[in-house]
Amino acid sequence: MFPNTHFKNAKKYWYMNKLYDWSEGILHPMIHALHYGTSTFEGIRAYPTSRGAAIFRLKEHIDRFFHSAEVIRMKVPFTKEEVIEACRLIIRENDLKSAYIRPLLFYSYGNLGLVPKFSPPELLVAAWEWGAYLGEKSNQGVNACIVPKRRIHNSQMDLSAKLGGVYVQSMINGTLARDLGYDEAIFLNLEGRVAEGPGENICVIKDGVLHTNDRSESILEGITRTSLLEIASHLGYKTRVAPIKKEDLLQADEAFFCGTAVEVTSIVKVADFSENPDKGPEYILGDGRPGPIATRIAEEYRKVVTGQNPHFEKWLTHVKD
Ligand SMILES: Cc1ncc(COP(=O)(O)O)c(C=O)c1O
Repeated sequence: MFPNTHFKNAKKYWYMNKLYDWSEGILHPMIHALHYGTSTFEGIRAYPTSRGAAIFRLKEHIDRFFHSAEVIRMKVPFTKEEVIEACRLIIRENDLKSAYIRPLLFYSYGNLGLVPKFSPPELLVAAWEWGAYLGEKSNQGVNACIVPKRRIHNSQMDLSAKLGGVYVQSMINGTLARDLGYDEAIFLNLEGRVAEGPGENICVIKDGVLHTNDRSESILEGITRTSLLEIASHLGYKTRVAPIKKEDLLQADEAFFCGTAVEVTSIVKVADFSENPDKGPEYILGDGRPGPIATRIAEEYRKVVTGQNPHFEKWLTHVKD
């Protein structure tokens, strides 16, 4: 009934401690989360290593998941250890060498008042093979556009949580960017500085220094971003965490998106629609190709996630014992 066309190699999913065939759908259309986006989720990746698939920074993702649940006032019906085991299990059950893992906690079926008094939180964990998030072109760098609408502000929502409803803004603007002919959107924050992408953080490089922003700038402070800051220092690069002005991006030597889904993907051109929604002057970053530092960091990230850098082995959870 439900083909896995866009979920490569997905055979089963885990839902409330049971495994279901991927083709089988079991939820009622009146679940609370479907109507109001009352859910929270994680995006986690597993990579092939010499010891089989390993999940990158699983503990940190599950900690964030439970934090997000607190923000949306949900009690997770499982312990952290049980969710960790469900993530490991679903990769084994699907026999995946690499995977994107999606734990989702949502208010389920009960009532439809905005306060989900009778709608219990339920948990799903799915996994499948997901290639480059921004497509095959990612290796050559992508073109992004600064969209006219500003990112939801951290005075309005707690952006340290990954809440389903917040991603409506991501979806609308990600679609707008593609309609305008670009690969991805970039949000400014209400202060007019660079915030983040719809599902990615942003790093810029100028004069050899890797520079990114933090939660004070209305972003989700990503686990990838935090890992890359450490990897970059380990490689000997200077790093800086401070607000990114729009000009810092437009005049950067190099820039990249980073996140679990997008990994490290260079931004080679930025169009700025922030001042006029009908006109987006374009800026080429560096020489219009992924730059040397972003490339070096992306290579090292690949080594780290695939278990080829012993210093960061501590970040991997192997799927098999
Ligand atoms: C809005 C947003 N910002 C940043 C990120 C990057 O976070 P992470 O590196 O933890 O995947 C994500 C992806 O989860 C995201 O959805």
